[in-house]
Amino acid sequence: MAATELERFSNEEKRNLALGGHVGFDSLPDQLVSKSVAQGFSFNILCVGETGIGKSTLMNTLFNTTFETEEASHYEHAVRLRPRTYDLQESNVHLKLTIVDAVGFGDQINKDERPIVDYIDTQFENYLQEELKIRRSLFNYHDTRIHVCLYFITPTGHSLKSLDLVTMKKLDSKVNIIPIIAKADTISKSELHKFKIKIMSELVSNGVQIYQFPTDDDAVAEINSVMNAHLPFAVVGSTEEVKVGNKMVRARQYPWGVVQVENESHCDFVKLREMLIRVNMEDLREQTHTRHYELYRRCKLEEMGFKDTDPDSQPFSLQETYETKRKEFLCELQKKEEEMRQMFVNKVKETELELKEKERELHEKFEHLKRMHQEEKRKVEEKRRELEEEMNAFNRRKVAVETLQCQSLQATSQQPLKKDKDKKK
Ligand code: GTP
Ligand code: MG
Repeated sequence: MAATELERFSNEEKRNLALGGHVGFDSLPDQLVSKSVAQGFSFNILCVGETGIGKSTLMNTLFNTTFETEEASHYEHAVRLRPRTYDLQESNVHLKLTIVDAVGFGDQINKDERPIVDYIDTQFENYLQEELKIRRSLFNYHDTRIHVCLYFITPTGHSLKSLDLVTMKKLDSKVNIIPIIAKADTISKSELHKFKIKIMSELVSNGVQIYQFPTDDDAVAEINSVMNAHLPFAVVGSTEEVKVGNKMVRARQYPWGVVQVENESHCDFVKLREMLIRVNMEDLREQTHTRHYELYRRCKLEEMGFKDTDPDSQPFSLQETYETKRKEFLCELQKKEEEMRQMFVNKVKETELELKEKERELHEKFEHLKRMHQEEKRKVEEKRRELEEEMNAFNRRKVAVETLQCQSLQATSQQPLKKDKDKKK
């Protein structure tokens, strides 16, 4: 099709046509539903809150089951993320639920939220890598991206801790945060009311973006906007069943009375379950994909050098980006190689200089030793000469003494002979 013809075609107004009878494409939504049901759903919850705040109990209460739990110790070296995946089924809907616990959060002296941020990013990265593969299998890919972060606030009745503010601020661009006041049965009604207002004003003044239940869909706009005003939800968790009237209900029993988990005048548990599971689960999944993952993907691709348009606002082709990036990479590689070569040459020069210095030192040492040796030799020679002279003198004296001895011997042996001669005369 010629370019002008194409343009005319796309600019042409779409006309409404009436159908003569039933065609069948009104079943598309049903087809979509049955396809989704067959495929199953995944939902991933991140629980952030200090050790023992009631995270596991609330999860068990929310899903009306008993997940594996393992009490965390207060002596973890660092915050550790512990994901556990379960297959749940309700009617014919399969849900692959992953609950991720931020174990040890709030216990470390070095209160670092980085492991949580890293974990969320890693899940985004895994998804991105799958998307970038030549042979993608996103259809049966186990999506581990975090859809919601339930942030458990300690019911102090005072204000948010700086750790809460810092952590939520770091997480708000990466995940949908729903703040909840845990163990709400430990705080009085009037204190709770003030605490909620305080928390919300602190979140606003610190620019923390928490998840807002969507109000753009008429079907849920009203309930969602009412519920937005109830945030943060004050919840109570319990897996115990207590008899109230003639019914067994989930509750916490105290000497002074019973706190019913599903009683809306006792706590906001029902509101949380309604909002999280029954009304907005799909929106949380969608927001994760279209907002948080999209942001991660955009930053990551830009970091890798991909752009939508070039400086002249012309569409950027993938091929061009690849070529530019390849050239940049090769230049970088060449620069690195040159640097390494220069470094090697410098190192060799340095070593050569060091060796020369060592050689000079050795030579000096050798010369010094040589001089010392000659001096020693000269002294020994001197000594030898002296000794020889002494020996000569000694020998001379010895010869003289021997001559004297000989002469005196001769003299003594001639004396009796003379006496005999004299007698004979
Ligand atoms: P770790 O995983 O070890 O960090 O603990 P956790 O946050 O999962 O807390 P868990 O659910 O194990 O509960 C710790 C204790 O708090 C248990 O004794 C629970 O019975 C109690 N608890 C849980 N929820 C509530 C609640 O809503 N109110 C009160 N008063 N106690 C609760
Ligand atoms: Mg737990």
